[in-house]
Amino acid sequence: MATIINGKELALSLKQRLAADVATFDAKYGRTPHLVVILVGEDAGSVSYVTGKAKASAEVGLRNTTIRKPDTITEAELLGIIDELNADSEVDGILVQLPLPKHIDSDKVISAISAEKDVDGFHPMNVARLWLKQECTLPCTPKGIIKLLKSAGVEIAGKNVVVIGRSNIVGLPVSKLLLNENATVTIAHSRTKDLADVTRRADILVVAIGRPKFVTADMVKEGAVVIDVGVNRDPETKKLCGDVDFAAVESKASAITPVPGGVGPMTICCLMENTVECFLRKMEKTNG
Ligand code: GUN
Repeated sequence: MATIINGKELALSLKQRLAADVATFDAKYGRTPHLVVILVGEDAGSVSYVTGKAKASAEVGLRNTTIRKPDTITEAELLGIIDELNADSEVDGILVQLPLPKHIDSDKVISAISAEKDVDGFHPMNVARLWLKQECTLPCTPKGIIKLLKSAGVEIAGKNVVVIGRSNIVGLPVSKLLLNENATVTIAHSRTKDLADVTRRADILVVAIGRPKFVTADMVKEGAVVIDVGVNRDPETKKLCGDVDFAAVESKASAITPVPGGVGPMTICCLMENTVECFLRKMEKTNG
């Protein structure tokens, strides 16, 4: 039976540590870090993520503003809001919840956010800096995955890691972070031939393909560490489930993250950490 890697517990302890730091900021800097989240439309998943971000901000002691706009907002209006937030010296982090409605160009919106306030790590400048190994804001889910592996005592250096998924948000950046940890990284995806042959070579398997219970036991090597990034509805039970068939894979893996309670809480925790990092960089610039 696999060890269940408990992301909820780790996120809680990291948030408590962060809260203790944040509690000293008012006296040191005269204010607390401020995160602004912009939500366009009413997508149930997005509303739930944004609510989670506001709750975590309160737990850590961050100021949180959520701006909700109807999905009829124009691109120009959204860009106008971002310009104002970029210019506001009391805003430290800006996050636009994705996906955006089709009439809005997400790339344009992400690029409009000041790279210094880009707590998602999605701005082209932060992406470039990640690939150049320069100081930057790391995307939250990949950052959380590395923390989970390290906290579970998983050795990454020299291991064969297979990442299923090549998105800008998870697959590509987590591959780079794992490479930085000296893993041998293979990026697989929906067009990979003989996918099961590839995944069976993985000592560590990271799954971010967005299909419920896509990874089955026959795709996993005995004793592998399995990280499940998926958040899906099980088409049969309608319950939350990951990209991995947890019940079947659990008996084969040496360690596995559950859904919910694995990667998800770590993503939010890293968003809190990124907001604090952006705030501190700014304070160092203005005071130093
Ligand atoms: N939608 C799904 N995941 C994310 C994320 O990490 N950041 C943002 N902004 N939107 C998302």
